[in-house]
Amino acid sequence: MCGIVGYIGAKEKKEILLDGLQELEYRGYDSAGIAIIENNKLKYFKAVGKLQNLRDKTKDYTSSGFGVSIGHTRWATHGKPTELNAHPHLGKFSFVVHNGIIENYQNIKDELQKEGVRFISQTDTETIVHLFEHYYAKSNDSFDSFEKSISKLDGAYATLLISEASPDTIFFAKNGSPMLIGFDGDDIYFASSDTPIIGKAKEVYYLEDGEYGYAKDGEVKLFDKDGEKSFTTKPLATDKAMAQKDGYRFFMEKEIYEQSSVMSDTMIGRVLDDRVEFEELDESFFDGIENIKICACGTSYHSALTGAYLLERVAKIPCQVEIASEFRYKEPLLRDNTLFITISQSGETADTLEALKMAKRAGLKSLSICNVDNSSIVRESDRAILTRAGIEKGVASTKAFATQTMVLWMLTLYIAQRENSITKEILAQELDAMRHTPKALKVTEKLHNKLTRLSKRYLHGHGFFFIGRDIFFPLALEGALKLKEISYLHAEGYPSGEMKHGPIALADSELFTIALMPKSLHYEKIKSNVEELSARDATILAISPEPFELADDFVQTQYSSHPMLEFFEMMVVTQLLSLEVSVRLGNDVDMPRNLAKSVTVE
Ligand code: F6R
Repeated sequence: MCGIVGYIGAKEKKEILLDGLQELEYRGYDSAGIAIIENNKLKYFKAVGKLQNLRDKTKDYTSSGFGVSIGHTRWATHGKPTELNAHPHLGKFSFVVHNGIIENYQNIKDELQKEGVRFISQTDTETIVHLFEHYYAKSNDSFDSFEKSISKLDGAYATLLISEASPDTIFFAKNGSPMLIGFDGDDIYFASSDTPIIGKAKEVYYLEDGEYGYAKDGEVKLFDKDGEKSFTTKPLATDKAMAQKDGYRFFMEKEIYEQSSVMSDTMIGRVLDDRVEFEELDESFFDGIENIKICACGTSYHSALTGAYLLERVAKIPCQVEIASEFRYKEPLLRDNTLFITISQSGETADTLEALKMAKRAGLKSLSICNVDNSSIVRESDRAILTRAGIEKGVASTKAFATQTMVLWMLTLYIAQRENSITKEILAQELDAMRHTPKALKVTEKLHNKLTRLSKRYLHGHGFFFIGRDIFFPLALEGALKLKEISYLHAEGYPSGEMKHGPIALADSELFTIALMPKSLHYEKIKSNVEELSARDATILAISPEPFELADDFVQTQYSSHPMLEFFEMMVVTQLLSLEVSVRLGNDVDMPRNLAKSVTVE
């Protein structure tokens, strides 16, 4: 995800910016750039790819006197990862960097273009700098122009702007995306998280949404909608590893919390008002395709299973799912009317990669759904859709699963549109539900506290059964996998209707059943399956919007008209439960024993 660094002072600015951006590398990016004003002169450098490319481009440049500077690592959302689309974006005499999404950028861009402003990138960010210069041409007042510009923006942003019109000033604004200001004497730093300024600044102020202002002469002036305001700084943490976790105890915890915002990244530019678009695909790619086969491992296999329900039900296309390591040796019959989809967070999983190669040798068209651009699986596939989850550090996958599932849901609608297998009304309902997903993924303090409390009752026993029906069956499999991976307790995912065909023999008070009981899909059916278990004294933790009197423990979720919204909300509950059980057992949450993040061996 994108990162921002800014500095105003007399130190060497290039190094501060590049070192700062390096600290944000772990978030993922595909281009980077810096802009500096020193002695009233603007200088900028941009490069696609790794920061080393930017370092190479700037190796003969030093900035030794007083000046202002901003830098950015970009992770492409609007427009491809090219130098033109990389930040900082230039107007005639100003530069801007921005994280987030300006939702009304197209309207602003249209208005400015009518006045003759020329845009050179495909980004939403470029509108900010042109807007600023548009107002400056009228008022000759930089701060007034900046204030007017940000008042026009809808959406999420953290932004820094520098201009030859005020060569000793950095303008800043924050709404929805993180930004902080660091202080060390007269030196002032900006960053989108702590790490770039740890070891440099001593005090910090974390900007609140709606705050904006400027830094000049060693001072920061802060404003919000009510005018100028005072603020209090606090000492800056000194532990970088802690700061990378944004204050969370574990990367997994951070990744669970960021699912809501990450999901917006997955959808941006793809979920449009009346349809789903993928710039990675063209309609002819699906010519002749009558069947889909999805191949993956572990968590990615579970998202594949979920996708298969959606593809068959909504897009009306037959879909089979295979575990990659099984697929490789089963001598599968592959027909060229089949689209072969691989799903992988890392893009390097050996079994999945080999399955893909087999399908290609059989002449099948291939599509990968992957989180890592340029990974082996992406390179090997005919087409790739990136999940845009950002780097996932916790070995137990969370946000990768959420975003893979979302891509499969979007792909379902894309195919359904193409095949005319969906009515306009149903499509509108699906799109509306999709837009509500980030909300369904929000972790509330109340929910997390509840799961922390509940977790103490689930540290023993002779096993867990996560049960669900339909798309909640793969979610049950995923819930069980998460618990196994980080708690080392035995857990299984099962279709709830299948329990009576064998596993119910295990039922007693020491068998913990985590029942996924959505109200919008087969509620009565799963309810009777859970009653059968309760009658045999199994301990039931029910997750449902509907209170369930036989539950020993109950986590209430929201009533929702769309099963996928219930799916994502329940997914968060199971993730948090596993996390808290693991914490209580004293395990290494982020690096569980025996597991690797990327399984590149067979
Ligand atoms: C589970 C987990 C693994 C991976 C599996 C496939 O939390 O992380 O089960 O899902 O090893 O990895 P990718 O998706 O990278 O192909």
